[in-house]
Amino acid sequence: MFTKIEHGPLMDRVYRHQRHFYDVTRKYYLLGRDPMIAGLNPPERGSILEIGCGTGRNLILAGEAYPKTSLYGIDISNEMLATAHKKIEIAGLGKRAKLAYADAADFNPQALFARRHFDRIFISYAVSMIPQWQLVMHEAVSHLAPHGSLHIVDFGDLADLPSVSRKALYKWLDWYHVTPRNDLFDIAESIALKNNATVQKQRLYRGFAWITTIRRNGM
Ligand SMILES: C[S@@+](CC[C@H](N)C(=O)[O-])C[C@H]1O[C@@H](n2cnc3c(N)ncnc32)[C@H](O)[C@@H]1O
Repeated sequence: MFTKIEHGPLMDRVYRHQRHFYDVTRKYYLLGRDPMIAGLNPPERGSILEIGCGTGRNLILAGEAYPKTSLYGIDISNEMLATAHKKIEIAGLGKRAKLAYADAADFNPQALFARRHFDRIFISYAVSMIPQWQLVMHEAVSHLAPHGSLHIVDFGDLADLPSVSRKALYKWLDWYHVTPRNDLFDIAESIALKNNATVQKQRLYRGFAWITTIRRNGM
């Protein structure tokens, strides 16, 4: 397991070169991101935070889909953030989006963005890369506004794949420091129970991608 201090430099090493062709290649296998964004459905002038925002690809799509919202993103890789800044500017969303370097396991939105809560928070293909992913989910729920929701999309349990293909895929993912979280839905349920929230689970593409949504009830 990586410590907090080692994880940022590790992510920088992983993405230093990949960030230049990341969006072109990932569209073929980071499945479920667009349905997750389509399901955000924030209030008209609501706030949206992406944890582990990478190249900014998802924030740009969310900004286009929900044109009056305020956008926020954090990432532990300065390399990825450099690309995200550039892409968000090119997309004309620079005035609506704020990005910050932060560890999802320990971040203070008040200090970073001068706000405590968000209407929507999403995490796309990052829980499978974050050692303290359960803590990150807990933290994210604590930063939801009343009636806010946390949306997570990531690799599913790949249960419908033949076992040879599944093993090969797991090995390949491991090279990229990715571990599918097969207990994602169970953890979402237990977090919801403690937070007066409800959970929605979606299995897409024969279990290749999972989306889980934790919706907070009013306080
Ligand atoms: C597989 S990429 C996904 C990027 C983007 N969310 C997407 O869907 O294209 C995972 C991202 O999570 C970031 N990340 C990993 N661990 C993190 C942590 N502890 N805190 C914040 N970001 C983290 C990585 O730097 C990387 O940008």
